[in-house]
Amino acid sequence: MRIVMLGPPGAGKGTQAKRVSVKLNLPHLSTGELLREAVSNNTSLGRKAKSYMSRGELVPDSIILNMVEKEIDKYEEKGGFILDGFPRNVAQAKKLDGYLEKKSEALEMVINIDVDEETAVKRLTGRLVCPNCGKLYHATNAPSDGACKGCGTELRKREDDNEKTIRNRLEVYFDETHPLIEYYREKGILRNISGKGSPDEIFQKILILIAQIKVKKS
Ligand code: AP5
Repeated sequence: MRIVMLGPPGAGKGTQAKRVSVKLNLPHLSTGELLREAVSNNTSLGRKAKSYMSRGELVPDSIILNMVEKEIDKYEEKGGFILDGFPRNVAQAKKLDGYLEKKSEALEMVINIDVDEETAVKRLTGRLVCPNCGKLYHATNAPSDGACKGCGTELRKREDDNEKTIRNRLEVYFDETHPLIEYYREKGILRNISGKGSPDEIFQKILILIAQIKVKKS
């Protein structure tokens, strides 16, 4: 199964992609997580990406596409993937179509989660992340005592989760990523859901959408 999670920063793409990945035993590929790992390991890729990420700009396509192509090859062996944070513009979407066409494959569904700007800002300014296992929390929506409930590691804020950078990320989303909604609608694979409601409610809606792919395949 090949699924893309689309939506503005703070829509809940990462939260839901992790759940779908566990439920379907499908690899989760988050370009944001791969980049943050590269930054934290101070690799050459990380050094190139760091300043774009801290400003909330997109990292150049040449860097991203090289990184994603290698990852997708690995994940294809595992029966597909759930992509989160990629593609981020029409050029990346066309490249992805090209990689999959070469393997006689295609995306099956793009799930677009929508939230309004102020909800996104509230979610991101309160987000806390476990630096060890990646589990997501929120200071008020999904509180913890400052430590990950899964592995006990001290939670951190992401460096780009300050209000100035968040507002820029939202602007970049509307300029560069939002056009993908039309791109995938024209291909007939776009499904829209509201990102309002609890993570459990949204997850149930996503599972209903994914069941449609299974019905189509059978
Ligand atoms: P990336 O890591 O992809 O960040 P993003 O797109 O800005 O998305 P977020 O991770 O902020 O939000 P999300 O929708 O996943 O929300 P989450 O589930 O965490 O990218 C970071 C940077 O890397 C980019 O700015 C760019 O520089 C670079 N980059 C990455 N990919 C790139 C690419 N392809 N091309 C170029 N550059 C790239 O939830 C947020 C919070 O809300 C959490 O606290 C969560 O607990 C809470 N929450 C979630 N759902 C709910 C709910 N239903 N109700 C209440 N709270 C909720």
